[in-house]
Amino acid sequence: MLDDILGYVEHIRERPVWQPIPDDVRSRFRAPIPTRPTDLADVHAEFLRDILPYSTGNSHPGFMGWVHGGGNLAGMLAEMLAAGLNANLGGRDHMPIEVERQVGRWACELFGFPETATGLFVTGTSMANFIGVLVARTAALGTGVRRDGVAASGRRLTAYTSAGAHGCIAQAMELAGLGASALRVVPTNRQHEIDIDALREAVITDRSLGFTPFLVVGTAGTVDIGGIDDLMALAALAREEKVWLHVDGAFGALAMLARDLAPRLAGIEQADSLAFDFHKWAQVPYDAGFILVRDGALHRSTFASAAAYLRREGRGLAGGSPWPCDFGPDLSRGFRALKTWFTLKVYGTEQLGAVISRTCALARYLRARVEATPALELLAPVPLNIVCFRYRCPDADRVNARIVADLHESGIVAPSTTMVGSRLAIRAAIVNHRTEPRDLDALIEATVALGEAATRALAHAG
Ligand SMILES: Cc1ncc(COP(=O)(O)O)c(C=O)c1O
Repeated sequence: MLDDILGYVEHIRERPVWQPIPDDVRSRFRAPIPTRPTDLADVHAEFLRDILPYSTGNSHPGFMGWVHGGGNLAGMLAEMLAAGLNANLGGRDHMPIEVERQVGRWACELFGFPETATGLFVTGTSMANFIGVLVARTAALGTGVRRDGVAASGRRLTAYTSAGAHGCIAQAMELAGLGASALRVVPTNRQHEIDIDALREAVITDRSLGFTPFLVVGTAGTVDIGGIDDLMALAALAREEKVWLHVDGAFGALAMLARDLAPRLAGIEQADSLAFDFHKWAQVPYDAGFILVRDGALHRSTFASAAAYLRREGRGLAGGSPWPCDFGPDLSRGFRALKTWFTLKVYGTEQLGAVISRTCALARYLRARVEATPALELLAPVPLNIVCFRYRCPDADRVNARIVADLHESGIVAPSTTMVGSRLAIRAAIVNHRTEPRDLDALIEATVALGEAATRALAHAG
């Protein structure tokens, strides 16, 4: 099994990035629950035949869709060790939790957070943002909100983020019982950064109308184009207005590892909480999201609760309090920290930072190729590693959506789409450490060829 998966990773370039699941393969997965044992080798053969060839493909150098990390071998092997240990990191006194605490301390060091800050592995930034909103809610309403609910406070809390923010911020407001309409969406400038003056005005207006502004969510690396809000200005505004500053740094926060990009994140060290993913730019295998909270005591008071069956002791296995389950909603938790710890140790932050810088250099290369190709049009600035462009033609939204589906089915490259303003864009997010200039050349050439074919086909169809 190990040889097969190592061979898969070694030769991944020779495979299609992605291929559709054949009907017979999909239908084999409608079989009833197995009541009798099957030989491990047979199950593995089934995995090789039916599962491995039809996965997302984000380890492939031609994968540029959404924001998916490429994974790495040290992390993969660590995941096997973690599964062997089968540790539960909800709590208790054992070394795997010390590994998670160490990664948390490294994150504090990296982002300039104090030693009293607390951190927690979670599935991804969607969950980390949700935790950030909940801690901010405690800061605004006190821990009584846990018992009495939001309505009992009689206050109408409002939060603020930019039009470029990820949809999970609104979802976090929904889940926190505050409502998505209490999230004010502030316009952005041409660089897709939040308009600070408009933000200030929105806060002041809400206050005058009797609302209680409690949270500003800045973004370090917007999902559409990679814009970075002015975090210094956001921190100053949050201080003046006495509101919580949460930064969604899903992929962008780890630009901190790259010497040339780190200065662009100035101000991140002043955030009250920060969400980011090791599984994106740091190439840790899925999943490895993380939340850091400056005020560890407030973080703990948002989640910790006493239960007889989770009693803490001064010694023995029930020692080591506080436990990770005191800082988030999960009680049973896997050992995500190990693959992250292995990745950070085996490659080191300089090498990981160099990978991040390189993906941005590749994005600039792609931008230059788009600009030099008359059939293509650049649709947005390229501040980091994301390039939004499209094939120029009549009915461009429809044609470009079709080009992207054709690209996926060609198996050559896999970008995704997004809307830039009202225009559909082909969006290439270069995250994978295996991507090379030739993959971007292939993207350009295939896009132009498929664009010409799609335009011809649509003209033919009348
Ligand atoms: C800016 C931003 N926020 C949040 C998320 C959600 O992160 P996750 O998919 O890890 O939950 C993403 C995902 O790409 C993102 O780019």
